Amino acid sequence: MLLLSRDNLKNLLSMREAIDLVEKGFLWLHQKKVLMPPRSVIPTPFHGGSLLMMPVLIEDRKKFLVTKVITVYPYNQQLFGYPALQGINLIFEAENGTPVAILDAHFLTAQRTGAAGGVALRYLARKEADTVALFGAGPQARTQLEAACTVLPVKKCYLVSFGDPREKAFALEMGTRLGIEVLVTGDAESAVSRADVVITATNSREPVFKGEWLRPGTHVTAIGSFQPEVRELDSETIRKSRVFVDNLEAAREEAGDIIIPVKEGVITWDKVEAELGEVIAGEKPGRQNADEITVFKSVGLAIQDAVVAVGAYLKAEENRVGRNFLLGGEQ
Ligand SMILES: NC(=O)c1ccc[n+]([C@@H]2O[C@H](COP(=O)([O-])OP(=O)(O)OC[C@H]3O[C@@H](n4cnc5c(N)ncnc54)[C@H](O)[C@@H]3O)[C@@H](O)[C@H]2O)c1
Repeated sequence: MLLLSRDNLKNLLSMREAIDLVEKGFLWLHQKKVLMPPRSVIPTPFHGGSLLMMPVLIEDRKKFLVTKVITVYPYNQQLFGYPALQGINLIFEAENGTPVAILDAHFLTAQRTGAAGGVALRYLARKEADTVALFGAGPQARTQLEAACTVLPVKKCYLVSFGDPREKAFALEMGTRLGIEVLVTGDAESAVSRADVVITATNSREPVFKGEWLRPGTHVTAIGSFQPEVRELDSETIRKSRVFVDNLEAAREEAGDIIIPVKEGVITWDKVEAELGEVIAGEKPGRQNADEITVFKSVGLAIQDAVVAVGAYLKAEENRVGRNFLLGGEQ
């Protein structure tokens, strides 16, 4: 069995490769080529966290069964300096059930979530979009910005400050790495109203900006919330936008950004135009003109984890990266 650490994974898949894999994954899901039951979630009420289990059967060059086991502790960073998300991806050969790899899910989750944002931008953002307003300075915000720079000609990012001590380093490091200007600002309204793309990657339980600030033609990607009572977008943002999701069934269970405006009677579920897989398949239109506002709401799907985990595992095998481990011991 192969063990792949965070360091091993860093240089295995480029963001462009991850975006291509996740795009394929969304398409396969729509084409019913994968088996993906809803994820099970165990909350830890005393500690404010949860454990998520996310299995998938995927058919690629080889057949793999893949699952992710991950904990989400939204205030870990502030309280303990630990990542909000930690866990492992497990890969088994579907033919015989043999476990073949364990991978660090902290890294891969950020990469696959950024990649989903990248797929959404390919189909929903204006091609010339060059200004991003970003909420959040954690691992998810990093990969969202990296993916935006991979698919769009981004020149400038306004990082909206929430007092996170990581913001300054984020701006310096990401600005240099991506070759763009990253400005930390306390003025959310001016950031949103100047942006072509607004990305929310926060642990906020309440909307982080007002929908009335969005200008025509903006695309919004919301990835932070995955609980029905939690949202980053207000009802006005959802009301005035064309709305797309990663998966409708999961969104109905988990996407507070849509569930809350439905409960308020501002919209009905018909407001959701399509899953991204339907747009990728060409069955539903993505962006249709330069003026409409689009929203992609992601709750995060096991298929995203599975495609990047298998992609990284196959590359690691090819390049002899990682550490081999005999699960059954020497025999
Ligand atoms: N959709 C998905 O597939 C998916 C995948 C992974 C993580 N997530 C979620 O994404 C979120 C971010 O994850 P992370 O690991 O980067 O977390 P993190 O704790 O490292 O970072 C959270 C960031 O949000 C910022 N923030 C909170 N409220 C804000 C506000 N009102 N305005 C601006 N910034 C604000 C904080 O300052 C911090 O920088 C989490 O809620 C996580 O559960 C979603």
